[in-house]
Amino acid sequence: MTLLVATTNQGKLREIAGILEGLPVDLVTLRQYPDIAEPEETGQTFGENARLKALYYARHTGLPSVADDSGLEIAALDGAPGVHSARWHGSDYAHKFRMIHELLAARSVTGSPARFVCHVALASDGRIEYETEQEVCGEIAAVPRGTHGFGYDPIFYYAPLGRTLAEIEPHEKAAISHRGKAFGALRAHLSAHPVWLRSS
Ligand code: IMP
Repeated sequence: MTLLVATTNQGKLREIAGILEGLPVDLVTLRQYPDIAEPEETGQTFGENARLKALYYARHTGLPSVADDSGLEIAALDGAPGVHSARWHGSDYAHKFRMIHELLAARSVTGSPARFVCHVALASDGRIEYETEQEVCGEIAAVPRGTHGFGYDPIFYYAPLGRTLAEIEPHEKAAISHRGKAFGALRAHLSAHPVWLRSS
């Protein structure tokens, strides 16, 4: 089976490819489909955006397509940046981290509980075949630390390992992260449905 992983984010793609490694599927990405315009992510929730992206790319490529929508929710900021994580206050993460700390300071908070959420949807033949939503809970670090991972990883402190997600190895992150758990569940679903795997 050929499965389209609908992302252009190299950080995410590395993580997803690692998690799905060993399944009898050939992964293709949006790099192979440069002419397909990105759909507007108009959803109000991670689930709505993941479903709309998976259905859109399945329709445009004719391939079973998996899409995820993910982001960071900071409790003391009423769940921001949430579904707007990618574009919230621009694309420079050093600036985004400063904004988070400034907004928290304005509310007299230093570290806030936070969670990363990942909703994964698999679409084929015009319908959603499978979906799951997973999270990892942590807190906002007072200072960004670490060089692994991507995005908000340096300011997401994960107490059970005593480090930020940017300070842990990729395989450690895959074991505990929102995306690791969501694609792990997708992997289990695909493994449990070998007929579907073969027939596509
Ligand atoms: P999406 O590509 O629309 O799902 O947007 C996801 C955005 O949420 C990314 O661009 C990052 O800013 C943030 N994000 C999601 N997952 C992670 C993660 O595992 N680490 C750090 N940032 C993440």
